Amino acid sequence: APSAEDIRDVIAPLTALEGPMLPMLHAIQAVWGHVPQAAVPVLADVLNLGRAEVHGVISFYHDFRDHPAGRQVLKICRAEACQSVGGNAVASETMARLGVDWHGTTADGAVTVEPVYCLGLCACGPAAMLDGRVLGRVDADRLVLELGV
Ligand code: FES
Repeated sequence: APSAEDIRDVIAPLTALEGPMLPMLHAIQAVWGHVPQAAVPVLADVLNLGRAEVHGVISFYHDFRDHPAGRQVLKICRAEACQSVGGNAVASETMARLGVDWHGTTADGAVTVEPVYCLGLCACGPAAMLDGRVLGRVDADRLVLELGV
């Protein structure tokens, strides 16, 4: 786990920005893949905020994870075009089979499931993205197969 000094080093170049909190959080997540607990007191100190405020921002923006993601990240589209062709059912069935909810990671650390709002693949929904690769006309069987779990 990174130390407070490691975190300070990463955010130091961003302190002069106006509204530096989100850029700092993005920088931290880019380096460690998530926002470690140790970042909260450092950000609170540097930004002169309460820890609860920092924590509130991290949990408000679902882009930020507070623990490491699974080895594979599956994003399932929840926007309207995909919903209209059964995207919600695909998502619920896939998550039921993996035993996770939105933003959840399987117990073995294999997969994290996240919502995404339109992948630009509306004509071939339900759409999903697995580790950056877009998948069209998916169903739960296909997703589970692609995940290899
Ligand atoms: Fe799902 Fe556009 S609505 S890809």
